[in-house]
Amino acid sequence: MNTTTTTDASAQPFVDVRGLQVNYRTRSGERLLAIADMDFQLRQGEFCVIVGPSGCGKSTLLKVLAGLVPHTAGEGRIGSQPMGVTRDDIGFVFQNATLLPWLTILGNVLLPLRVQRRPDKAQWEARARELLQVVGLGDFADRYPAELSGGMQQRVGMARALVHDPQLLLMDEPFGALDALTRETMNAELQRIWLLKQKAVVFVTHSISEAVFLADRIIVMSARPGRVLADIQVDLPRPRDMVGIDSDRFTEYSRQVRAHLYAKEAT
Ligand SMILES: Nc1ncnc2c1ncn2[C@@H]1O[C@H](COP(=O)(O)OP(=O)(O)OP(=O)(O)O)[C@@H](O)[C@H]1O
Ligand SMILES: [Mg+2]
Repeated sequence: MNTTTTTDASAQPFVDVRGLQVNYRTRSGERLLAIADMDFQLRQGEFCVIVGPSGCGKSTLLKVLAGLVPHTAGEGRIGSQPMGVTRDDIGFVFQNATLLPWLTILGNVLLPLRVQRRPDKAQWEARARELLQVVGLGDFADRYPAELSGGMQQRVGMARALVHDPQLLLMDEPFGALDALTRETMNAELQRIWLLKQKAVVFVTHSISEAVFLADRIIVMSARPGRVLADIQVDLPRPRDMVGIDSDRFTEYSRQVRAHLYAKEAT
């Protein structure tokens, strides 16, 4: 039994994107079609992982959802708002933690609230400290980024992305730069935090085992221009643990994802 909370199939999706097309204009003035005719739905509290070949438009999709890159065709909505507006109810975790070196860890976590000029500093500071506890860095609030390891910095990045209590968490290969062991630990941490906070998540990765470990659903994208090749429901019980990643069912999901990825590459 899947123990996630998203069970009401009749409920409206939280993110609903139809016919998405994204064109970039390159420096030489040409148009580059990054995403062509993509549909994407995400339910409240759902953990969706996106995999696909390099350059297929995964980061572009996240940036469109965040309102950072405009779409050229299609329509969509996130919650009650149309897609394409800049919004402050989204958290973004990048591949590198991108912390500001001159701010303390607490200062970095509070940054989105400063940018959004939210009042009631004391309340937010309490929330930031609580989130630092959640990510296991309660004792590091007054330290500086340079004093933390890569994995610790990524955890600060997670706390920062959650501090304004976003409805949607976008994560673009957040653990790609970490060593294998730290990465697995971070996956377990992220699952724990997600089970606690129940945010809708769109998580991009190149790691198939990371995808199966984390996902309620895995979307496999084609090579550019990006389209949905497969949408795979991962029905493994939670909490999942690293020891279980050798189980037959886990291996079968990995095989399915791999089959879609390589089938496309061969064409
Ligand atoms: N600002 C930009 N201007 C022009 N082209 C861009 C821009 N950003 C991305 N592209 C192009 O759009 C395509 C999709 O890029 P995107 O970064 O979304 O891919 P990706 O799937 O995230 O790749 P990777 O797995 O390597 O991170 C690529 O061909 C890329 O060169
Ligand atoms: Mg990318």
